[in-house]
Amino acid sequence: MIIEQNIKTLPLAKVAEVLKKSEDLNLTDWNAMNIATVGLKNIPSSRMVLLKKINDDGLVFYTNFNSKKGQDLSKNQSIAVNFWWRELHEQIRIEGEVAEMPPEKSDEYFNSRPLKSRIAAIVSQQSEKIESPETLQKEIDDLAEQFELNGDTPERPKHCGLYLIKPSAIELWKEGDFRAHQREKYLKKDDETWESCFLSP
Ligand SMILES: Cc1cc2nc3c(=O)[nH]c(=O)nc-3n(C[C@H](O)[C@H](O)[C@H](O)COP(=O)(O)O)c2cc1C
Repeated sequence: MIIEQNIKTLPLAKVAEVLKKSEDLNLTDWNAMNIATVGLKNIPSSRMVLLKKINDDGLVFYTNFNSKKGQDLSKNQSIAVNFWWRELHEQIRIEGEVAEMPPEKSDEYFNSRPLKSRIAAIVSQQSEKIESPETLQKEIDDLAEQFELNGDTPERPKHCGLYLIKPSAIELWKEGDFRAHQREKYLKKDDETWESCFLSP
């Protein structure tokens, strides 16, 4: 997970600051975030993923483009993100749109993962029905064994890769005494600059 130094965009720099704090404290799954997408019939669905990178462009995560979330995002690029760190008493909410990262970046990330994770990505048809978890595990183990025996390097399946979340709204929430929480909201304007205000808790 890479928190880029010297982020210039103010709300993203603030997000990076909270992430750095949670990383330094070694909080469990400090880079886990909930992402919500909108599917057919406008039904929202959400799930956890791990943040892989943050910089001035936005936030990056890795997934299967053919999964439920990938199918949702191919039709509607809108996404909502939620982080919560219990120990920090802080929450961050982000709204924006996604774009697939260039294939070279996804290759770079894929190749950095342990062999078994790469094999699991090849075998797993994320979000599809399977016969049983045991059958899938056997497929992964068998294929990993083949790769290990042959000394081959698995290639990234084209349907696995990185998404960039380009934020248009960011809210930083801090718990206050007796529910007097602080909410600072940033909105991106048409000229790409950001305006901010405070919201009532
Ligand atoms: C803490 C945590 C981290 C996860 N990280 C990822 C991730 O980085 N990428 C991913 O595709 N799924 C990740 N998952 C699994 C997803 O939550 C989800 O089950 C999977 O992506 C399928 O979602 P979908 O069917 O809505 O597409 C994670 C789950 C948990 C609990």
